[in-house]
Amino acid sequence: MAEPSEPRLIHELQPDSLATPPASPEAVPSRSPRGYVVLTIGLPGSGKTTWYKRRGVTPLSSDLLRNLLFDDITEQRYQGLVFSTLRSLLRARLIAKMPWNYVDATNLSPHERRQWIKMAKSFGYEVHAVFFDVPLAVCLERNSKRDRQVTDDVMHKMAERLRPPVFKEGFDKITVVRVKGASPSAKAAAELEGAAPAQDSVPGTKADAASSPAAQA
Ligand SMILES: Nc1ncnc2c1ncn2[C@@H]1O[C@H](COP(=O)(O)OP(=O)(O)OP(=O)(O)O)[C@@H](O)[C@H]1O
Ligand SMILES: [Mg+2]
Repeated sequence: MAEPSEPRLIHELQPDSLATPPASPEAVPSRSPRGYVVLTIGLPGSGKTTWYKRRGVTPLSSDLLRNLLFDDITEQRYQGLVFSTLRSLLRARLIAKMPWNYVDATNLSPHERRQWIKMAKSFGYEVHAVFFDVPLAVCLERNSKRDRQVTDDVMHKMAERLRPPVFKEGFDKITVVRVKGASPSAKAAAELEGAAPAQDSVPGTKADAASSPAAQA
């Protein structure tokens, strides 16, 4: 197995048009670990599912599971069952040595992320975070235009719970996705930028070297 690579911090902008294709994928370096687990982190409406869709990736998600288990994406009961099944599915993929593994969930706090990270590391996988540092006002606005809406009250509570990812949680790479013109949130500025061991947003550089097809802007 290859030695673990340096933690990397990447910056990305959300596109003006959702039709804008992501940049072309980069090759996985020869000195790669067994594979990668990519976790999204962000409020409802921050653009996590859209980010995956633009890359043609089908991530493991609670929506997918609610469809599979209950034939109903809106079923809100059995949350524990949904998330334990989600973890079992990731474990099955890791046992099967699947190289790229994506989880689409809000993953707001280190506590919620810990089990995913622990599992990925125990199988010798790198863990990548894709953090949607999108202002609450933008998420609220997008949420208000959706069919399945989260109440503003819940959105505010989730925003309070949101903690930006940091390398000490075990992430090998952190990609920060922002909307054009928005400055970093105070939380992100304090927790993430201050603790960054590497800052490099230029594609093709060492900082970006292990990016997957889906991990590109
Ligand atoms: N870059 C973007 N620019 C403009 N609108 C966007 C962008 N990304 C997502 N949206 C819109 O915001 C809404 C929510 O996006 P999306 O479903 O990707 O959010 P999410 O983070 O997956 O939310 P949830 O946690 O509720 O699943 C959608 O209507 C989508 O079209
Ligand atoms: Mg989603």
